[in-house]
Amino acid sequence: MMNSSQSESFSPAPRPDQVLRAGMVGQGMIWDETYRQFFDTAARRPLYNPQFGACGVDLVAIASRTGLRAERYIQQAYARGTKIQSFAEPGSVPQMLRSGDVDFVCVATPDDRHFEACRQVLSAGKHLLVEKPSVLTLAELDELNALAQEHNVLTKVVYHKLLDPDHKKLRTLVVDHDLRHVNNGYCSLLEPKSISGNQFSEWISGRNPGTYVAVHYIKLIDFTFGGRLKTVQCTGQRGLVSAADSNTWDSAQLRLIYEYDDGREAAFDIHTSWVTPDNFPGYVEQEVQFRFDNGIWLGHSRRRGVELTIEEQTPLAMKTSLNNHYSTEFVEPWGERRKRGYGIEAIARFAHEVAYVEFAGTKEDRSARLQEMRDLAYNDLSADRQVVAAVEAMEAILSAAADGLPDCLVRVEGNAERLLLFAPGVAEPKVLRG
Ligand SMILES: NC(=O)c1ccc[n+]([C@@H]2O[C@H](COP(=O)([O-])OP(=O)(O)OC[C@H]3O[C@@H](n4cnc5c(N)ncnc54)[C@H](O)[C@@H]3O)[C@@H](O)[C@H]2O)c1
Repeated sequence: MMNSSQSESFSPAPRPDQVLRAGMVGQGMIWDETYRQFFDTAARRPLYNPQFGACGVDLVAIASRTGLRAERYIQQAYARGTKIQSFAEPGSVPQMLRSGDVDFVCVATPDDRHFEACRQVLSAGKHLLVEKPSVLTLAELDELNALAQEHNVLTKVVYHKLLDPDHKKLRTLVVDHDLRHVNNGYCSLLEPKSISGNQFSEWISGRNPGTYVAVHYIKLIDFTFGGRLKTVQCTGQRGLVSAADSNTWDSAQLRLIYEYDDGREAAFDIHTSWVTPDNFPGYVEQEVQFRFDNGIWLGHSRRRGVELTIEEQTPLAMKTSLNNHYSTEFVEPWGERRKRGYGIEAIARFAHEVAYVEFAGTKEDRSARLQEMRDLAYNDLSADRQVVAAVEAMEAILSAAADGLPDCLVRVEGNAERLLLFAPGVAEPKVLRG
């Protein structure tokens, strides 16, 4: 039987002048689930595309808060012959940018720490991949988009749920007009308590699960159905993660209202939580329902088809219902062992887009290739406007509720140029932006 290194010999060697050097900011949960798998695989298996040939990707630098987890990873990488530098706070990102010769940087820090790292990366003229939600305000979005233009680099956001085969099929049916005119929808994503109580405890204060995960569905709705976002409403509950009068939320219910070119509207409710019991059998419970003029789409993570029970392992050490599409270790039929899935594919695709810009033709044509990649609305930051508007509105509504002003709503005007926060019983809206 062919062993894993033999099967990898199918990959051509990269040309020495076609290697992308990467920097990573953040070494938390998402690093473990997706980035680490991507970089480990890329170290053995170059990217390949007929337009640019084989292209190597080397992770050369890691910036993180303490550097402790990075050191452990670097030791393992060193044993394989890869040298990676580590930089810790304070000033981990500027240090990395000063000392490392990187071509692109991935930012996977807590969401309220994305902007500063992204600003530094783009100001240094490096391509950028940032985790969702990209940034928390339209002012931040505008600043980053302007920097990306000024420095002629890509700025992309990881929305890996758009690469989930189920969501690709949904979009295909919409694009082909098999499903016609969405009227309303419901999405939910429930994270276990261990996420809010343990994994995120360092940064959870003042945060909410809506910004953290509803954003997946905001983008899915925005990208799949188009339209203009006009109203944002949000409610939430407190008292488990932190005090019941704080601005730290256990669960959030977001409602978005969109208007389409024909004047018709659709409403979407997105429910999120990070206090679901840890022994719940679903690993990050996810459900979507979309209702159309002529059809209905129902998707449920626990009904993808696999239910697993192993004594003393499920449902805690291992989950009962598995998502084998996201980032899962497989032994391939040809003997190779590796992690695959749409979570990793989203990062690999970004690296392909950078390689395409840098290596798929002449220097003179680079700006045309850059524009071609920027026009991809599924991940370009310039196409993130309505998503960021929804996030900024949701954060403002939750913050007003924590300040004793519940039940506000935000109206979004123009191409998300103005955001107006209306409070019950208050005549004049507060201008959040515009
Ligand atoms: N695409 C997805 O499905 C998905 C899933 C999980 C998380 N995420 C996103 O990834 C990001 C990180 O989430 P996580 O789950 O990995 O969080 P985490 O708390 O597990 O890890 C955060 C990491 O950021 C580092 N960090 C914190 N402050 C820093 C700073 N100032 N400079 C440098 N590094 C710093 C920490 O050292 C830690 O390694 C968030 O934006 C989150 O929304 C995305």
